[in-house]
Amino acid sequence: MNILLIGSGGREHALCWKLAQSPMADKIYAAPGNPGMIEAEAISLDSTDHNAVNAFCADKDIGLVVIGPEAPLVDGLADSLRIAGVPVFGPSAKAAQLEGSKGFTKDLCARASIPTATYVRTDNVQGALAALDSFPIPVVIKADGLAAGKGVIIAESRADAEAAVKDMFDGSFGDAGAEVVIEEFMTGEEASFFAVTDGTTIVPLASAQDHKRVGDGDIGPNTGGMGAYSPAPVLTPELERRVIDEILRPTVDTLHADGMPYSGVLYAGLILTDEGPKLIEYNARFGDPECQVLMMRLRSDLVELMLATAEGRLGDIDIPVFADQSALTVVMAANGYPASPEKGGAISNIEAAEAEGIKVFHAGTAIRDGRLVANGGRVLNVTAMARSVTGAQTAAYRAINTINFPTGFCRRDIGWREVEREANDS
Ligand code: AMP
Ligand code: GLY
Repeated sequence: MNILLIGSGGREHALCWKLAQSPMADKIYAAPGNPGMIEAEAISLDSTDHNAVNAFCADKDIGLVVIGPEAPLVDGLADSLRIAGVPVFGPSAKAAQLEGSKGFTKDLCARASIPTATYVRTDNVQGALAALDSFPIPVVIKADGLAAGKGVIIAESRADAEAAVKDMFDGSFGDAGAEVVIEEFMTGEEASFFAVTDGTTIVPLASAQDHKRVGDGDIGPNTGGMGAYSPAPVLTPELERRVIDEILRPTVDTLHADGMPYSGVLYAGLILTDEGPKLIEYNARFGDPECQVLMMRLRSDLVELMLATAEGRLGDIDIPVFADQSALTVVMAANGYPASPEKGGAISNIEAAEAEGIKVFHAGTAIRDGRLVANGGRVLNVTAMARSVTGAQTAAYRAINTINFPTGFCRRDIGWREVEREANDS
């Protein structure tokens, strides 16, 4: 079968690598892809032009489209493909509101009694300022729409909260800030859980833990994620069961009952509070870089899993198997990331780093004058697998020390929470 993969990041490279391992995969096209995706033919196709994507699928006899990032989902690309009869992995625009509108998700949680922070949703400054009275400090202020991971402010004082509210309604987040959600601040360790669903059946995949801050020790500005590991043992089997029963199941059932069944991967961002796991937010796609560690561990056929999701047949396939090992990925970013990453820096020695159990996924890379260079904020994802998080961490940093990328940097402590626990347990 021919496959079209939409996207260009490390997440898409990991998906491409795993899709290509399937005996069901013939030709893979990546739009636009990146230089790491040697398994695919990179094509230039404007994913906002749905007619062009449909025409390409007809022309190349595409049997599965995999949509990596959130923007084309929220923009309804999956809907256009479904209308044209092309199997697609990814939710409809309506269902993707789970990621595209924080207010939509909070209202759904309220209706379905899903554990999450208490909230107020408002579309005006006066309403927002009044709502602040009902929350203790710190308080969380969120732009409703997609804001590339930057639309969340944790205000440590009333003055900061008021400034954040005014900022959002002043348009500092564009249309994303036309509505605002004000939320109770929750305390606990964060973890993510991934599952695929075809709108009815839920197939749990695995847990992971991301590292969002740019600096060691979780300091500095938020990023798209500087590294991750999977599984996240802090999410015990008992807690995973609660996440499925108390969060995922009511979400999928409510969307189904509302006539917008969710088809694709559900990424639940969770916080483990004293009262149990609570939902921070949903994403309608795989996490980046969490996808890289999930794909490293996945032993089952990804094409079969995605096609069964797309065709509503998840009830009929074997439960996907994940390696009983820890995978850990470290993001190598360009100096200046996240504010102003430096482009054009040379990268070499990747092949030498890819020893047994190591895979280097490309994110923001490009070929210039025949040489590999940095072309974005997050550039490489150095991914390792071992029997423990500590072992995977050691292997990943050994590989990083082999890679030559003088204008790049990485965090040196990815996995630290679990490494600390493993040290205490031994
Ligand atoms: P998001 O962009 O929704 O992933 O939020 C970014 C980060 O803000 C999350 O990973 C949490 O660390 C933090 N956060 C968001 N909402 C809350 C909340 N209600 N309580 C505590 N922390 C939060
Ligand atoms: N790594 C966080 C995200 O993909 O949203």
